[in-house]
Amino acid sequence: MRFTRILRSSAAIAMLALGIGFSSAMAAGPAQFNDKGELLLPQNYREWVMVGTQVTPDELNDGKAPFTEIRTVYIDPESYAHYKKTGEFRDGTMTVKELVSVGDRKGPGSGNGYFMGDYIGLEASVKDAKRFAKEPGYWGYYIFYVPDMPLVAAAKHLPTAECAACHEKHASQDLVFTQFYPVLRAAKATGLSGVKAPH
Ligand code: HEC
Repeated sequence: MRFTRILRSSAAIAMLALGIGFSSAMAAGPAQFNDKGELLLPQNYREWVMVGTQVTPDELNDGKAPFTEIRTVYIDPESYAHYKKTGEFRDGTMTVKELVSVGDRKGPGSGNGYFMGDYIGLEASVKDAKRFAKEPGYWGYYIFYVPDMPLVAAAKHLPTAECAACHEKHASQDLVFTQFYPVLRAAKATGLSGVKAPH
């Protein structure tokens, strides 16, 4: 009897300690940081929810677009589920933007266009009210690689002016470019993750 009570109370203390440690260390969510505060390269993000893809070709930008690549944006599944329910980005939300070069311009049967080439970059953002208490919307921004830069296993938090400023000014909701993400817009209005056939 006594022994079980001791066991129970030590288990409770251990859980309490873990709980306190966990909650003060970080927001819920998939982002992992090293002891230098750098964001670790996310794993398996291609299994997350894809929210939108953009392309800004040179041809539509006087021959030289600021970004010529095709960009696909993902959000972590739990934050997507939260967004679908509440229409808000929860503390701990993480997004990943993958950059892909434009490859072929002739499609067999589908016409001329911009077809995906190779992976050439990866950026991420994390919303964390404790870690980024001083940043607009509590978002932190990171680059793992872009053309002419090697891929890193851990990325440094980038200055507000370099990333957050444009997001704060131009993005539709909470520094996220929801105006370009039909998947999020549809989920927010209806809680749907697919399309609905008319009755
Ligand atoms: C001049 C404006 C501008 C600046 C500066 C900027 N972004 Fe963005 N960002 C965009 C736009 C527009 C999108 C929408 C998707 C797209 O077109 O790529 C976006 C989308 C993103 C996304 C996807 C989630 C979201 O918030 O919509 C991430 C991640 C991201 N940017 C990271 C960065 C990082 C890292 C930096 C700094 C190195 C940065 N951005 C600087 C305009 C900007």
